Order: sequence, then C-alpha cells, then structure tokens
Amino acid sequence: MSKTEILMTAPMMPVVIDALDKVFTVHRLWEHEDRGKFLSETGPRVRGVATSTLFGRMDATLFNLLPNVEIVSSFGVGYDNVDVAEAAKRNVIVTNTPDVLNDEVADLTLGLLLATLRKIPQADRYLREGRWLKAPFPLSPTLRERKVGIVGLGRIGKAIAKRLEGFDVSIAYHGRTRQEGVAYTYYPTLIGMAEACDVLIVITPGGAGTRHLINADVLKALGPNGVLINVARGSVVDEQALIEALRSGTILTAGLDVYEDEPRVPQELIDIEHVVLLPHIASGSIHTRNAMGQLVADNLISWFSGKGPLTPVPETPFSGRVS
Ligand code: NAP
Ligand code: 8YV
Repeated sequence: MSKTEILMTAPMMPVVIDALDKVFTVHRLWEHEDRGKFLSETGPRVRGVATSTLFGRMDATLFNLLPNVEIVSSFGVGYDNVDVAEAAKRNVIVTNTPDVLNDEVADLTLGLLLATLRKIPQADRYLREGRWLKAPFPLSPTLRERKVGIVGLGRIGKAIAKRLEGFDVSIAYHGRTRQEGVAYTYYPTLIGMAEACDVLIVITPGGAGTRHLINADVLKALGPNGVLINVARGSVVDEQALIEALRSGTILTAGLDVYEDEPRVPQELIDIEHVVLLPHIASGSIHTRNAMGQLVADNLISWFSGKGPLTPVPETPFSGRVS
C-alpha cells in the first residue's frame, strides 16, 4: 500500500523528520526550486502538512494548492502562522504544541525580567570590557516591592505567575474574562492594570485580536518606573510607540523576546543600552524543542491512524470525524 503523503513546508528538527519519514512519504518543500510547479503536480496528493513560523504564514493560496489536505500540524503553541479561519472553512484540522513548553517559557520570562531589572547583560559586558577595573558597576533598579501585571493569564501566564509567587511580589492579571478560582487581582481593562502596576508581562496569542494591544496609552499608564516584558508576539506591542516611550523616559525599560518583523529588529531598539533583547528563544532549549517537535509528529501520526488529533486548536475542534 502506498504511504500517506505529507508536506513539510520548512526544515524541522530531526525528531520530527525521523518520526514522519518512518510512517509517511514526506515532501520537503524547501528542496524544490520551482515550488509552484512542484505543488501543482504533488499538492493534490498531500493529505497532511507539518509547518512552522520558519515557513511564514500558511494562507489561502497554499490551501488552494492542497485541495485534499486534512490536517495541518504546526510547530509552536502560537499558531498565528496558520490562517485558521481558512482551515476551518475547508474542514481542515489545525494542531499546535501547547503545554509541553509552559515551564521553559516561564523560566525564560523570569530570567528576562531579572536580567532587565538588574542589568545582567550590561554587567557582563562591563566586566568583559575591563571597566570593573576602573569602577564598580552602577546600582540597578530592582524587582523588590513591585506589582506585576500579567497580560494573558493562560497556560504560560499561570506558570509565570507561579514562579513570581516565589519572588514575593504582588501579582495581577488582565484578560478578556475574569477566571474562577484565581487569587490574583483581576483588572477588566488593560489601562487600569497598567496604571496599578509597574511591570507588565505580555503572554497573549498574536494575530489580529491582540495587534498593538500595548500602545502609547498603555505605556504612558505604566509610567516612568514601568518595565515591559514581551514574550508573546511582536505584533502585540506597537514597536514604534515602545521605542518612543523608552527614548522619552515614559517607561523605565523593557525586556523583549519577540519583534514585529523577526528576525529584523529595529536599529533604534538595538541602540538603546538599557533594554534587554533576546532572539525569540523562550522555548529554545533542546529538551523543550524536542518535546514540541514530537508533538508535531504525533498529531499527524495519530490522525492518520484514525485516532483523531491530539491537540487541535479551538478554531478547528475535533468533531469525531477521523482520517
Ligand atoms: P493560552 O493558554 O491560550 O493563553 C492565552 C491567554 O491570553 C488567555 O489567558 C487569554 O485570556 C489571553 N488573551 C487572549 N486574547 C486576549 C486579548 N485580546 N486581550 C487580553 N488577553 C487576551 O496560550 P499559552 O499557551 O499561554 O500561549 C500564549 C502565547 O504565548 C502563544 O499564543 C504565543 O503567541 C506566545 N508564546 C511565545 C513564545 C516565545 O518563544 N516567546 C513561546 C510560547 C508561546 P482571555 O481569553 O480571558 O482573554
Ligand atoms: C516557537 C513560540 O519557538 O510556541 C510558540 O508560540 O513562539 C515558540 O515556542 C516558535 O513558534 C518557533 O516556530
């Protein structure tokens, strides 16, 4: 019997490639010079897709070339790289990689928060440049006595809050809905939380619904002692408004893992000495990326074994229809 044909849109980790190669015929899109020709010939035979943000956005144009696709398995818990409305219209299941990265992302967020406040990268540069020999490193701002507002108290937001409890700071959250059984202070408006807090940690999904949620007004409300940490998506923060707020002292500082046009980071941000900039690494340990990759493969394997998807996104719920 011929094997089910899968399209991989961009290179993935060996854990994904090896698992899929064992079961499926895997077409590697990036190996084809004329992608249009390849997809018009092979696309109709493709029944599953493995994709990631490395490919860019999987939109209607690509769906049109894959008329028989049943499932798109996307690497990452955020799936703003897949047009899920288009998938839902076509009865295509989309899966992501939730939960297996919560702790890793939360750990990194706390690291970024402390690095930003206590100027850890700047202190490292100071020592390496031999400047300690001339004078001690200047005193830094602190996490002590701060009130931290989490924008998006979901799976990862809760893991961040749990860690923050150990740091003896007060914790608040904002989301579209108040959550039952959560003891942290809820703010129904983001402006209200920004006014009440002096740290905002952003960990919402990206996409149209959260675009520029953090804008000039929110930054003004956060105030001159305020710290912005963004580990969500670059699109959630108005980057130009942030640059302006950092330059003018509207807020104190920022720690960023994500940007509006990755991997391009505005030179204006790079030129600001007191911010900490990471290259989208929050889930980027070997351990966690392997777990995410395994889930990408397992979703496809489970679907084509007739067992349904393991982690479908809410916009394309599993209806009981199996492959
Ligand atoms: P999740 O469990 O779905 O949580 C998302 C939270 O965001 C929910 O609490 C939701 O609460 C809130 N939210 C959604 N839309 C909102 C809005 N318009 N305004 C305010 N709050 C809103 O997702 P998760 O697993 O924690 O992941 C969150 C996101 O983190 C991912 O989608 C991804 O973009 C990002 N992420 C980044 C990295 C990285 O490497 N930097 C790694 C992993 C994840 P309500 O529904 O009550 O609004
Ligand atoms: C991934 C992420 O590294 O899970 C997410 O939403 O942002 C990261 O964990 C990223 O999606 C890489 O494709």
